[in-house]
Amino acid sequence: MKAYRASLLWFAPHSEGPVQALYEEDGMLVVGPDAKGLQVVQAIGPWREVSGRYAHVPVEDLRGRIIAPGFVDLHVHFPQTNVIGSPASGLLPWLENYTFPEEKRFASIEHGAEGAQFFVDELLRNGVTTALAFATSHTASVNALFAEAQARSMRMITGLCLMDRHAPADLLNQQSAGGHVDATLQSLMDSEALIHHWHGKDRLGYAITPRFAPTSTDAQLRGAGELAARYSDVWIQSHVAENKDEIAWARELFPQSRSYLATYADFGLMRERAVYAHCIHFDDDDRALMRDTGSSAAISPTSNLFLGSGFFDYEGADRVGFGYGLASDVGGGTSFSPFHTMLAAYYVGREGQTKPGLSLSPQHLWWQHTAGAGQVLGVKNEAGQSIVGNLLPGCEADFVVLNPKATPLLARKTALASNLDELLFSMIVLGDDRLVERTVISQGPSA
Ligand code: GUN
Ligand code: ZN
Repeated sequence: MKAYRASLLWFAPHSEGPVQALYEEDGMLVVGPDAKGLQVVQAIGPWREVSGRYAHVPVEDLRGRIIAPGFVDLHVHFPQTNVIGSPASGLLPWLENYTFPEEKRFASIEHGAEGAQFFVDELLRNGVTTALAFATSHTASVNALFAEAQARSMRMITGLCLMDRHAPADLLNQQSAGGHVDATLQSLMDSEALIHHWHGKDRLGYAITPRFAPTSTDAQLRGAGELAARYSDVWIQSHVAENKDEIAWARELFPQSRSYLATYADFGLMRERAVYAHCIHFDDDDRALMRDTGSSAAISPTSNLFLGSGFFDYEGADRVGFGYGLASDVGGGTSFSPFHTMLAAYYVGREGQTKPGLSLSPQHLWWQHTAGAGQVLGVKNEAGQSIVGNLLPGCEADFVVLNPKATPLLARKTALASNLDELLFSMIVLGDDRLVERTVISQGPSA
């Protein structure tokens, strides 16, 4: 067991009602192994209360620092690190001119391994301890990311990008060697083999990953839905309703479905642990479909602002009631930093709403990128408690150590904070990787 004395930030259990951040200026966090040997939170609270109960546990003194849950990135593309900052008139030309050419390079095992190492380093440097990530349509890229995350004991969910039409030929899923099995069937067989190889191993999870409906045939989406039914605890990830041209294209290709989103439901791809990136251009029937199927949204504000896609409608999501959390969407997104993402979400909440005047609180923004995003992933202990993205007792001990004096301006501004909201806002507005002094992942320190 090990204890830390520091300021502590975490979240009250949340189902209904307002999000509530908990903060202890002089706190104690105790971590130790659970029955499986994974480091989990044993106790959290005021130093004066907890220290007596854990007097025998060695304590690291981090006073002046803030310990907070590790961030959860609900949607990020590991092969798109090099694509950050590639301008385009919108999503579809951006995919064609920058993203597909870069993703083709991941046919190379060396490029994949180097890219995975850089990507995981960058997540950890920025305080991200859990990610739901896209790989490419090459199985080697999936293996590369899983292997890299496993080496760091990181909680990582990824999967083979399913794409059997409407992309460059050498980026589509490939036929088996010898051509005995067509590319569509092979992509599904490869996905299943990857599930067997990686899903549930250490802290790794598999996500069935159709890129988006327009780049899959009916047969591929149907097969993906069948896999999702057979493996009910694997995740599903895709994109939906991001961009007007994309939506028009999806409607043309799948006219029998009620909406673009409903296409996924019609192929059995909406259920709990299904996470759809963007979810911008929805009507209330789409929102109800998200709610009724237990699917969730990965909100990607820096990407949506950069590509001019539109704005996630928070009021609509809360009124109808479906789950969501924040995501970088690198490389459409412009930053790995959760602080940049939270700030962009704040801008979207202020200016991008159909009902103007919404102002997301700093506690809510932080929750969306930690406990809220963890809840979306649905990793639970036997008591049914979400154990990712928070520091309640029983949660996996993934956390960041923040230095609120990391820059002169941060030091000046955070010192003026007279309440928790002001402190959190200072960090959201001024923070980046410099604020993250250390990232600790369960089973051992890293970064
Ligand atoms: N839709 C289909 N593929 C992508 C992608 O790589 N990034 C984003 N932002 N949207 C997509
Ligand atoms: Zn994306």
